[in-house]
Amino acid sequence: MDRLDGSANLMLVSDLDDTMVDHTDPDNLSLLRFNALWESTYRQDSILVFSTGRSPTLYKKLRKEKPILTPDIIITSVGTEIAYGEELVPDEGWVQLLSKNWNRNVVLEETAKFPDLIPQADMDQGPHKVSFYIPKEKAQEVISPLYISLRQRGLDIKIIYSSGLALDVLPKGAGKGQALAYLIKKFGSIGKPPKSTIVCGDSGNDSEMFTVESVYGVMVHNSREELLEWYEENAKSNHKIIHATERCASGIIQAIDHFQLGPSISPRDAKLFFSSEDNRKPASFMVNFYLLYESWLRAEVENSEAIIDNLKSITHSTGVIVHPSGVDKSIHQSIDALESCHGDKRGTSFRVWLDKILFSAIGLGSWLLKFNKWELNGTSSKCSVTTVLLNSKMETPYVLCINHIHQTWLEEYSIRDQQSWIF
Ligand code: GLC
Ligand code: MG
Repeated sequence: MDRLDGSANLMLVSDLDDTMVDHTDPDNLSLLRFNALWESTYRQDSILVFSTGRSPTLYKKLRKEKPILTPDIIITSVGTEIAYGEELVPDEGWVQLLSKNWNRNVVLEETAKFPDLIPQADMDQGPHKVSFYIPKEKAQEVISPLYISLRQRGLDIKIIYSSGLALDVLPKGAGKGQALAYLIKKFGSIGKPPKSTIVCGDSGNDSEMFTVESVYGVMVHNSREELLEWYEENAKSNHKIIHATERCASGIIQAIDHFQLGPSISPRDAKLFFSSEDNRKPASFMVNFYLLYESWLRAEVENSEAIIDNLKSITHSTGVIVHPSGVDKSIHQSIDALESCHGDKRGTSFRVWLDKILFSAIGLGSWLLKFNKWELNGTSSKCSVTTVLLNSKMETPYVLCINHIHQTWLEEYSIRDQQSWIF
């Protein structure tokens, strides 16, 4: 992790479907609460890992559908692939480890002898993952004989049953737990073990993450029967694991609070837009600024002169905002424009969230921030890469103020063209 000088304060490892992402909540409120908390407080000194059963292709699809943050590390295909950063740079060392005593063709031959196993779509298969659907009653009859037959063919494999319907055959050394243990060991070997690690899950393929040494764990409220049964039988005495009373990402926030792993109040709940403490921390400042913008447009704060004055007090009168189109305006002019738009997004799905906030001090009380600013309008979302210069005013040396904002559209093609782009 180039971003981190030393050990991460917290490594948060979360499953996506039905853990980080609540598919029953079209407004994604718990996810947005988590996002605001992570970006305001944890992004700078902690590591976010997503660990999903999805293949890389289906993971990318989910990112287009839901407001999930960019993780530092992504573990896909039930712990058979590990990749880093936005570019998804694969961990080659991990791939090599998995190839030992694994032969995909033999798995296909043996599984074909069990007609109750219905192969999943090609998109769900991986070089080290062969996946099927099978109902719960039938799964119990298949798992043992299939395991024995693959052992007899000389393979070291594991079979994982999830969500009462999915059966994965993986190399023995793979899986979400083994992948996490590998990462923890890797950070340890460079002298940067995370200070604490918490794992978050809801279904069968998550269970082995809870067995990794010394991690905290949360089974979100909506966890599947097979995970809760596994806990009852194997981990009940482990006080570092809780079953949250809240669903999905809200259950994760609940666990951060329960285990006292760090701040656990999302700026979305605190609504302390410019309390003096927040105003001194660049990331919180920025998250709160855009939350106020969202609340103003959704008319979730009153249309008051005091808020406009407050906004003007935390922006420099000479400051400029450069729109992604290249047009620029004074920031105070933009605030005047915002004043007349109060409630324009009332009752709509309009939301704003920030992703990948990074900042550095560029002088006494001066900060340069860079982040992705996302806006959801109806069903379409758009993103601008945003750079902000924050510094304090002479008369209020401890209070941060926006001096300059520069935004550039994050276009799909700009990602595709990255390889030929130098400056
Ligand atoms: C995800 C994957 C699927 C896998 C399941 C359980 O849904 O897409 O292939 O079987 O997780 O691990
Ligand atoms: Mg899940």
